Amino acid sequence: MVVFDKKRELALILEEKKAQKQTIGFVPTMGALHQGHLKLIEQAKKENDEAVVSIFVNPTQFNNPEDLKNYPRTVDSDIVKLKEVGADILFLPSVEEIYPLNETASEEFDFGALEKVMEGKHRPGHFKGVAQVVSRLFNIVNPEKAYFGEKDFQQLAIIRELVIKMNSPVQIIGCNTVREPDGLAMSSRNMLLTENERAEASKISKALFFIRDHWKEYSAEEIIKKAAKMIEQSGIMQVEYLEIGDAKTLQPVNEWNPSNQIRSFTAVKIGKVRLIDNVPVNNN
Ligand code: PAJ
Repeated sequence: MVVFDKKRELALILEEKKAQKQTIGFVPTMGALHQGHLKLIEQAKKENDEAVVSIFVNPTQFNNPEDLKNYPRTVDSDIVKLKEVGADILFLPSVEEIYPLNETASEEFDFGALEKVMEGKHRPGHFKGVAQVVSRLFNIVNPEKAYFGEKDFQQLAIIRELVIKMNSPVQIIGCNTVREPDGLAMSSRNMLLTENERAEASKISKALFFIRDHWKEYSAEEIIKKAAKMIEQSGIMQVEYLEIGDAKTLQPVNEWNPSNQIRSFTAVKIGKVRLIDNVPVNNN
């Protein structure tokens, strides 16, 4: 695996590969890699000649400075894992490399209703930051395909919209959420949980699975209340939001309409850590 920290050097090598008709699959990450990330990389490897991974803890998408400070950084063990799954190229830029100090241009994208709900509503500016960094990374790497997890379902929807707005030919591939044996969605933030918090955290996905398995028996409002109660029961987790939303528009669903694909979405505070998860409710 070759490691680059300069965008120009990376772009040059990738141009050469493209001239040789090699296809590029790209997986942007913020590191602290786990099986969820590695699944995306394995798929990128399978479907392309070259799998390019970036690790960059993007400051512009953190609305909370404490969260940015505490975000786990484990580059050495990340590199070992990347070699194991056969990643070809790692891009490991500094903040200045992505956001040059003398630069004033700051692209802004408007995602309308998509960014006004859930994560967009509770983390002001978050998706502007995600779109900013992903558009910059796409411009550097210029991949055929880029891989994103359904774990961050709203982010995936925003990225699909971003490539339309950028007029970019990058094909966005969404991948299933990888879970721990007890159902907890894998996340870099899980390593920040205490043992007790980690054990409790499995209730988040259990509540969403409860919605999936029992939605027909309740109204949307009733089942949302029940699921939130399951999460908050022990008193160490607080639900920031728990919504059932249309899988395409992400807007809240208050009445069942079986012809639409719907998903449940939640963000939960547990100690100092904030976790998100989502699960399909009907056939999607
Ligand atoms: P990060 O949280 O590191 O996630 C990188 C990619 O891995 C994202 O596409 C995310 O959805 C996916 N992922 C994370 N956990 C997963 C899981 N349990 N199963 C499947 N996929 C999973 O998301 C980001 O970084 C950043 O916002 C980024 C897109 C890199 C922009 O900075």
